[in-house]
Formats: sequence, C-alpha cells, structure tokens
Amino acid sequence: MSTVLLPAPGAEAAAELFATHLRAGSSDEVRVARVEFRRFPDGEAYLRLLDSVAGTHAWVVGTLRDPDPQALTLLFLADAARELGAASVGLAAPYLPYMRQDARFKDGEAITSRTFARIVSQAFDRLVTVDPHLHRYPSLDAVYRIPSAVAPSAPAIARWISQRLPRPVVIGPDGESEQWARDVAARVGCPVLVLAKQRLGDRSVEISLPQAAGLADRQPVLIDDIISSARTMATAVRHVRAAFGRAPVCVGVHAVLAPDAMDVLREAGAAKVVTCNTLTMVEGAIDVFGELAAAATGLALQLNTAGGMPSAGDGSRRSPG
Ligand code: R5P
Repeated sequence: MSTVLLPAPGAEAAAELFATHLRAGSSDEVRVARVEFRRFPDGEAYLRLLDSVAGTHAWVVGTLRDPDPQALTLLFLADAARELGAASVGLAAPYLPYMRQDARFKDGEAITSRTFARIVSQAFDRLVTVDPHLHRYPSLDAVYRIPSAVAPSAPAIARWISQRLPRPVVIGPDGESEQWARDVAARVGCPVLVLAKQRLGDRSVEISLPQAAGLADRQPVLIDDIISSARTMATAVRHVRAAFGRAPVCVGVHAVLAPDAMDVLREAGAAKVVTCNTLTMVEGAIDVFGELAAAATGLALQLNTAGGMPSAGDGSRRSPG
C-alpha cells in the first residue's frame, strides 16, 4: 500500500525531506500530497486535499513550533484524510509539543500534556516523533493511547560532534537532559558532565557549577532537548566559560527559540549554537529525518506484523498505562 504525506501549513519542506528518507528505506510508493490552505477573514482555516489519499496510509506532517494555532489544522487534515478514504492516518510531528507540563506543579494547573495527548490519540492512528520531553512519563505509552515510535537524535548529534569538534566533553545543563547527554557522549566516546538546575520562573533558572578538573583541555559541548527562552543554556554557558576558560558549543534538539533566545545565547558567550531540524529547516541544522523515517517505517512494520495498521474505530487503540 502506498504512503501519502500531508503537510500541515508550514511543514511542506519537512514533508519533502521525510518523503526522501522514507523512499530510501522502502520500495513502496511514497507521495507528498498537495494541500491548499488559507484563512478566512475571521481566521478560520480552509484546507483542501488536492491529491487522492484513498486506500493509502497517510501521515500528517506537522512542525509544531506554535502548537495552539497549528493543532486544529492537524485535526482537520486527519479527519479529511479519513473521510476521503485513507486506510490509516498517522501524525509525524518531529517536535511533540506540550510534553513539559507533565504534572500539576501548583494547585489548579492544567496538565496540558494529558489533554493534548488525548486529542491527538482520538484523531490519529499512530504517532512518530523525535526525542519527546519524557521526564515524569517513562514513555509515550504512559500518556498517548495510540502506537508510537520515538526517533533518537543522539546518532545524528554524535556524528555532527565527531566530525567537527576534537576532544569534546558533553555537558547536560540539568537532570532532564542527562538521558540525551549520556547517549551522545557514549556514541562520541567522550566524557560527560550533568549539572543540576532549579527553575525559578519561565525565564529564570539556577544551575550548578561544572567541575572541570581534568577536563579543562577539552571543548565543552552543552546539549539539551529544548531551547525555548534559552535561559537554561545561557546560564550553563556562563558557568562553563568560567569553569573551562573557553566558550561552549550549544546543541539543542528542538529549536523552540523564543524571539530573543539567540540574542540571549550570544550575550552569554556561546561559541556556536546548532539545533536539529525538527522545527526549522535552516542550513547547518543537524538532520534527524533519517532517524524519523526509520522510526516511522519500523512502526509500520511492527503494526503490520501485529495484524495490520490500526485505523479509527477498529478497537485496537491501547488504553493509557
Ligand atoms: C526542561 O528541562 C528542558 O529539558 C529544557 O531544559 C527547557 O525546556 C529549556 O527551557 P528554556 O530554554 O526556556 O530555559
């Protein structure tokens, strides 16, 4: 059965790149459908699928840097594809938003990760993403009810570091980044340090000082999964510069990047900032779409082996763990 990719508005380049990598790993037909999108004068979305999706396995591809306005268009596309005869509809979201509010930290807070997961699980049959922010949830299965696959960014980041930076030391700015920092360091074959962070507010953090003893001749490389306000990275950059006497390279998996984030990092004295291409296709970004395509292909194979790709209403969706 052929695969059709439906780019959500703004995700056209991501869909083309995803298609290229999917084709490289499969002999099945992979097409990118044309989607017409505009907004009515009142802001409502108009979407039209210009190519057939009947009888195909569809993936809606969304680059969700600004998830609130984009989420509805994903749901509209999923429903349209299903109504127009797609055999199954998956969501390929290289960056999965709303994973950080995974608990009620203060009385009365909405646990948005759960609500977002429920909405996505109702609309889609399967999900593939790159390194979601799994902290209190042990896996996506703890919150998503549909089969999912996670593509790791570590192989691509490790290749990037190995090809460019002699004698690196990988540094995770907080406990949550430890999983990525350790994975990357193990692949590069270099030492790793993990710092401790206390978040004081949306744009304010305190971070422990790195112990550079015995490592000061190495190039520090800070790695975090998300750079949003950039306060975590910037605070870590200052500490690392003081401890190592040299500017660190900053690597982020997901370039959420608030408008002032790059300025904040520049002012802190980062030697270079590089991110993966889960949200932006900028030149020089670390390409993780090969890993995303491999994860999507693996998920499809797994579902086919288990008795066919699930589709809405066939009762094969899992309950959350
Ligand atoms: C949370 O712990 C994440 O791993 C990142 O450290 C965090 O989202 C970065 O946020 P910001 O750039 O706003 O400091």
